[in-house]
Amino acid sequence: MKRQFLITADGSTTIYLPEWNENYHSKHGAIQEAEHVFLKMGLSLFYDFKEVTILEVGFGTGLNAYLTLLDAQSKNLKVNYVGAEAYPVSFDEIRHCNYPEQLNKTREVFEKLHTSEWEKDSIIIDTFIIKKRKQFFSEISDENKFNLIYFDAFGPRVQPELWTVDQFQILFKSLKQKGVLVTYSAKGSVRRALQEVGFTVERLPGPPGKREMLRATKL
Ligand SMILES: C[S@@+](CC[C@H](N)C(=O)[O-])C[C@H]1O[C@@H](n2cnc3c(N)ncnc32)[C@H](O)[C@@H]1O
Repeated sequence: MKRQFLITADGSTTIYLPEWNENYHSKHGAIQEAEHVFLKMGLSLFYDFKEVTILEVGFGTGLNAYLTLLDAQSKNLKVNYVGAEAYPVSFDEIRHCNYPEQLNKTREVFEKLHTSEWEKDSIIIDTFIIKKRKQFFSEISDENKFNLIYFDAFGPRVQPELWTVDQFQILFKSLKQKGVLVTYSAKGSVRRALQEVGFTVERLPGPPGKREMLRATKL
């Protein structure tokens, strides 16, 4: 599928899929959205842990992984990160992503996330280990493993099959007790599907340009 690069409202890049008229991130600000949905409403719940295990559903450009690495490093929190992705973004495309520059960092760490081998644990910095797994979301088979899931699939408008009871059951199983899933969508059908598999769901204020988002907890 054809991918084009766009600049979002906060100056950070995103990828646009013309065939689906869908972006990888919010046009109101890719970095701002990720910081709000995944860090503020997700990762911050685990700041007083020594170590946190995270599954990202849709690794894409690696923006969420990169922001998580930086935030956790500043909090002295160790992260074991798994990025699931069926259609990896090429390294040539990654060169167009301006996240390090937007955050006043060198490109080294961000690029290391992308040059690290697939299917293998890679130490990016002392406090951040990543395993990128090339797989379909339906193939996730972990059990009782993650503290936190970043559910960052394309929206239910273009990929309704990923926002279903079947998919959420797979993710529920992969979480530890008290584990949390965060997502940018606040759609009623998504909330109901999450509740149906046993999650306790909160509607929270959304990132800039979006009224609400969802956080689901496996109590
Ligand atoms: C919204 S984008 C993810 C954005 C990403 N988190 C980032 O920060 O760039 C959704 C991602 O899911 C991937 N994807 C779509 N359908 C998938 C499927 N069925 N299984 C695995 N990955 C899929 C796409 O290739 C894309 O990278």
